Amino acid sequence: MDRSLIGDLAHTDHPIASPLDDDTVDALLRRALAGQRSVLDLGCGDGTWLLRALRLNRGLHPELHAVGVDLSGAGFERTRTAADAEGLGDRLELHVADAAMWSTDERFDVVLSIGAAHAFGGLVPAVEAAASHLQPGGRLLVGECFWEQPPNDAALGALGASADDYANLASTVEAVRSAGWEPLHAHVSSLQEWDAYEWSWTGSLTRWALEHPDDPSSAEVLTVAAEHRAAWLGGYRGTLGFVTLLLGDGGP
Ligand SMILES: C[S@@+](CC[C@H](N)C(=O)[O-])C[C@H]1O[C@@H](n2cnc3c(N)ncnc32)[C@H](O)[C@@H]1O
Repeated sequence: MDRSLIGDLAHTDHPIASPLDDDTVDALLRRALAGQRSVLDLGCGDGTWLLRALRLNRGLHPELHAVGVDLSGAGFERTRTAADAEGLGDRLELHVADAAMWSTDERFDVVLSIGAAHAFGGLVPAVEAAASHLQPGGRLLVGECFWEQPPNDAALGALGASADDYANLASTVEAVRSAGWEPLHAHVSSLQEWDAYEWSWTGSLTRWALEHPDDPSSAEVLTVAAEHRAAWLGGYRGTLGFVTLLLGDGGP
């Protein structure tokens, strides 16, 4: 089965493709979007962040306009259908494109990029790319991994990562500040949020495989779930952290 389809299937019960629970997502969106007119999401997954933003801002003025860009496009049709059914479709644009190359003349009040920094070559380039789409005075909401503790070989092997792929939390925040962006707020994902995300990811695939024993992809999907679960439980659980930063332009 195509990897983007497996990824979409893995997010059946947790459409946010990052270790953040529903209350956290809504709280971050409320804080970032209060009174704003436009939001762009770079590496938007299936567009769930934007659909939730539109739901939260329903009936508020000004009305929000939401644009998402993702290389995959998996789940876009489902999200557009949901937006149409809720009367929000005319305020949602989803583009299949490389977010690092995508361009528009529009400038946005808020730019999100959650868990997609790798598309830009790391956190600071992701912040710079997101900032290039912002109105003056706009806000960034950026989510990225960090090391909760120095990674051991099991964690690095499980992630296929090297120790310098991420920094600790303090250095992660300082890197963003050095690029000229000041944290206005942050959420550090709890182990409970990580567990909920990873069990949902592997559980959705496992359930699908058990319910489709005759599908030619069933064994492959079960193997992907088992390998991912082993990498999480035997590798990076408690070592890989995730922080979502609300950032304002710190000026020159
Ligand atoms: C961990 S997921 C996060 C998705 C979403 N931001 C969320 O939190 O639900 C990372 C996303 O980045 C997308 N991605 C990876 N490389 C990309 C690129 N060059 N341009 C756009 N999207 C990209 C993937 O397709 C995937 O949807």
